Amino acid sequence: MTNDNHNLAIQWLDEHLVLLDQRILPFEIKHLHCRTAAETALAITEMVVRGAPAIGISAAYGVVMAAQQRFAESAREWKSLIQQDMQTLAGSRPTAVNLFWALERMQKCIDALQGAPVNVLLEEAKAIHEEDIAANRKMGEFGASLIDPGSAVLTHCNAGALATGGYGTALGVIRSAYAQNKLTQVYADETRPWLQGARLTAWELLQDQIPVTMVVEGAAAWLMQQGKVQWVIVGSDRIAANGDVANKIGTYSLAVLARQHGVKFMVAAPTSTIDMNVAEGNDIPIETRATAEILSCGKTPIAAPGAGAWNPVFDVTPAAMVDAIVTERGIVTLPDHNGLQQLFAE
Ligand code: MRU
Repeated sequence: MTNDNHNLAIQWLDEHLVLLDQRILPFEIKHLHCRTAAETALAITEMVVRGAPAIGISAAYGVVMAAQQRFAESAREWKSLIQQDMQTLAGSRPTAVNLFWALERMQKCIDALQGAPVNVLLEEAKAIHEEDIAANRKMGEFGASLIDPGSAVLTHCNAGALATGGYGTALGVIRSAYAQNKLTQVYADETRPWLQGARLTAWELLQDQIPVTMVVEGAAAWLMQQGKVQWVIVGSDRIAANGDVANKIGTYSLAVLARQHGVKFMVAAPTSTIDMNVAEGNDIPIETRATAEILSCGKTPIAAPGAGAWNPVFDVTPAAMVDAIVTERGIVTLPDHNGLQQLFAE
């Protein structure tokens, strides 16, 4: 994505958090200013900022603002007062483990603190932000090394600069592979109901002059049957210790289709997305959102009045259907518990 600050998903400016409003992109470029942890949590819940690493980074900045407020309220009691802010942030969305990972990292910092907290916590939040960008660059290189020249890829949702500190996970791999002239075509599916693919992935890639071809989700099987893609590349919200991958609803369908058609399946995610405390995918909490999100398209109703709906927003792809998990520490091919454990041991 361009270096234009205007297009950055997350910025820390004048002692507060500025988020690019992803609900209305790409048709309107507007920013939301968060000055408290509660405002940050609401922005996460309402999808102003979304994508696993971006949620974690935003929450970390939310902790900084909470510390600012609580320390001003009571220099003696702020460490206990801030716990309600940590809870509010932790309650914003359930699936992306990066949120809890970032909050834990901030909590460790709080525990070790003596004296005024804001500068130290801000440094930690900025480190989380910057480390994520660096991780994405590394993943980009690792992931691109798996792709043969002349390949076409399909991606799902938005796992790009908008969903991370910058550069992106799945889109980081696509950016790197494109820069190496390996890609003939990038397909993005629209990703109902929030249209992260159509609105965000397409916008991001076009900003970088990477041509993108949209397909509806229902076209994926036929796209693969026609031999038009060699890789599906996605991000993740949480990877269990056995390598099962939670990601945007529809990811599992793509994995099943990829198996059927001999298409390779890559998951690009930083190690902050791997939850070694969760044994398998079935244990990952899957967020269910309001039915209104799928009974309408934007503000326009699309379902017969009275129709019910079920709106799980993530699904789990079994590890056995994943060819490679690409992290900043390296690639785990045919992931399983041992492979992931080794990644952390190295
Ligand atoms: O509901 P969203 O838009 O937050 O879902 C985002 C995804 O599913 C992404 O694929 C995932 O967070 C990886 S982002 C690098």
